[in-house]
Amino acid sequence: MTRKMLVTSALPYANGPIHIGHLVEYIQTDIWVRFQKLCGNTCYYFCADDTHGTPIMIRAKNEGIRPEDLIARMHGEHLRDFTAFHVGFDNYYTTHSPENRELSCLIYERANAAGSIVEKNIQQAYDDHEKMWLPDRFIKGTCPRCKAENQYGDSCDVCGAHYQASELINPVSAVSGKPPVLKESTHYFFRLTDYADRLKQLFAAGYVQDSVQNKLEEWFAAGLKDWDISRDGPYFGFEIPGHKDKYFYVWLDAPIGYMASCKNYCQRNGLDFDKVWNGGEYEIYHFIGKDIMYFHALFWPALLFAADLRRPDKLFVHGFLTVNGQKMSKSKGTFIMARTYLEHLDPEYLRYYYASKLSGDVGDIDLNLDDFINRVNADLVGKLANLASRCGPMLTGKLDGRLGSLDTAGKDLLASLVAAKQDIIADYEQLNYASVVRRVTAMADVCNKYTEDNQPWVVVKTDPERARITLTTILNAVRILTIYLKPVIPAFADKIERFLDIPSQTFADVEMTLEDRPIKNFIRLVERVDKEKVEAMIEQSKPAEQPAAGPAPAAEEPKPALPAGWDEPLAPECTIEDFAKVDLRIARVLKASAVEGADKLLSLELDLGGDVIRHVFAGIAKAYKPEDLVGRLVVCVANLKPRKMRFGLSEGMVCASGPGGSEVFLLSVDSGGKPGQRIH
Ligand code: MSP
Ligand code: ZN
Repeated sequence: MTRKMLVTSALPYANGPIHIGHLVEYIQTDIWVRFQKLCGNTCYYFCADDTHGTPIMIRAKNEGIRPEDLIARMHGEHLRDFTAFHVGFDNYYTTHSPENRELSCLIYERANAAGSIVEKNIQQAYDDHEKMWLPDRFIKGTCPRCKAENQYGDSCDVCGAHYQASELINPVSAVSGKPPVLKESTHYFFRLTDYADRLKQLFAAGYVQDSVQNKLEEWFAAGLKDWDISRDGPYFGFEIPGHKDKYFYVWLDAPIGYMASCKNYCQRNGLDFDKVWNGGEYEIYHFIGKDIMYFHALFWPALLFAADLRRPDKLFVHGFLTVNGQKMSKSKGTFIMARTYLEHLDPEYLRYYYASKLSGDVGDIDLNLDDFINRVNADLVGKLANLASRCGPMLTGKLDGRLGSLDTAGKDLLASLVAAKQDIIADYEQLNYASVVRRVTAMADVCNKYTEDNQPWVVVKTDPERARITLTTILNAVRILTIYLKPVIPAFADKIERFLDIPSQTFADVEMTLEDRPIKNFIRLVERVDKEKVEAMIEQSKPAEQPAAGPAPAAEEPKPALPAGWDEPLAPECTIEDFAKVDLRIARVLKASAVEGADKLLSLELDLGGDVIRHVFAGIAKAYKPEDLVGRLVVCVANLKPRKMRFGLSEGMVCASGPGGSEVFLLSVDSGGKPGQRIH
């Protein structure tokens, strides 16, 4: 049974270029879409530029052009970059479109008819000089908490505080530099709470990954608030029907842009949009980053409930990109634009590397540049491409470019590769591309060993037909492994198909074999990553000079603060089985003493029962006095691999938690338990 599906990635803002952080998402989505298509499913990939809002309006003004011209130019640049990275949209549209205007008005009017739009008068900052309302990001001033100067109106870059713009000390408009005035205006709010129960049902039906679900519950617990969906003119966006000079806030029409992109595609391809979106025949999936969960998990489905339109089946939320373990940074040259990357490196390196890191959870993913070079060179070039480049030219050069037949050993090898198909399909379906890459790499190892064992480059001199059998086996193996990776490296796959002279392969072709037929001349598949090119890319990404203190920042639309803890990169997923490996035992502290030269550490001697005495170091010296610990029961990770530290061997770990320093709290079992008892 084939499936029908609509898939989207978040719509990138039209006020800036695509960078390698964005590409995590577009590559992740594109791999999934290509995979679905290769399985024979009908799968449309829709996206668009997100074009409305104050930042776009200001930027166009600064450039002395109309917003329409700015967004047309950005649309061209974005699409060009995506295409170069082989991101294959079925439609890449714009939110500034007639379809989007019509659908936004429709959804608003239905929500209004349902009684979910309410009017409120609010006080808002106004730039009397520029005659415009100021979003928080366009007000700057001194942070009320840490007193850092020149901070945005919603949060402080220095201390991370979130606050109201009205709390800023000495606020000024980022547009005119003059202090803003407070003015009253009527805004329209969407009553999110009207949909709380329906949202809960949606989540219960599996709308998001489990880890995201927990965060949603925190938001629910904190209480859902009415959402301000209107902005006063001048504003670049759609005017609200029936309200002069009031516009839809950009985040109202942005997700509706998914539908508009779909509708535009349907109109151009003879499909009935209402049936496609609402008919239930198509599954609907959104891929997004964790920073825009609130909009996609709460506002968006609530709007669709209000308008009685089909809700998506699932959100796939991914984490953020870090480079060399840190946030992308302009000064370090790790804030790399897609364009800059393309001037130096092959886009398929990045696709391959991201795939090897993506496993479908919300953890952040790290682009470690040394690891990037190693993995691509060792695995993609050294293992997979190597198989083809060793065997292909030999067959065309010495054996008139003709595949022979397979022997039993060859058939067995191929059967072992074919056997992985269902696992690979399941991995892709669950977005666990890292597992796919691991499996394919392991199979390429087996194939390289097979080649070594059979020595075709030696055998060809004495028994060419024997060598032909080996080469035929390996080239069939290359074909199978390439199909497995085709969603990740489509251009590589295309070269293999041309060289083997076969039609575009799908997952249905995995079981097929190529025998007794000619192949074409070998095509160079992929070059090794050149470290110097990576370095040149980093250099080029560093700011040329200190940016001049320009008038207005090209700020983004603000996004709500992430729930506590989400700013910190999440560690890779750990299964319940992984966790069960941790053997926690109750232990009694026999001795405790300070460690000379390490003011945070205490040296502890622990009794784990049954005459087992362990020596461990614990970073709790700022929180506990040694003498207070003697005799206490603590929880010890008893099977932690002993670790040599500067001060001696540590043979375990005591469990404690807290932000650090004096606020570290030992897990306490003083109420009962015996040393050696396991905690489950
Ligand atoms: N315009 C909004 C989305 C509207 S969707 C109806 C937006 N645009 S964005 O350009 O800021 O981001 C587009 C997507 O790229 C988001 O899903 C975002 O999470 C993702 N990423 C942007 N920077 C990223 C990283 N550094 N790392 C990973 N993904 C990132 O939000
Ligand atoms: Zn601050």
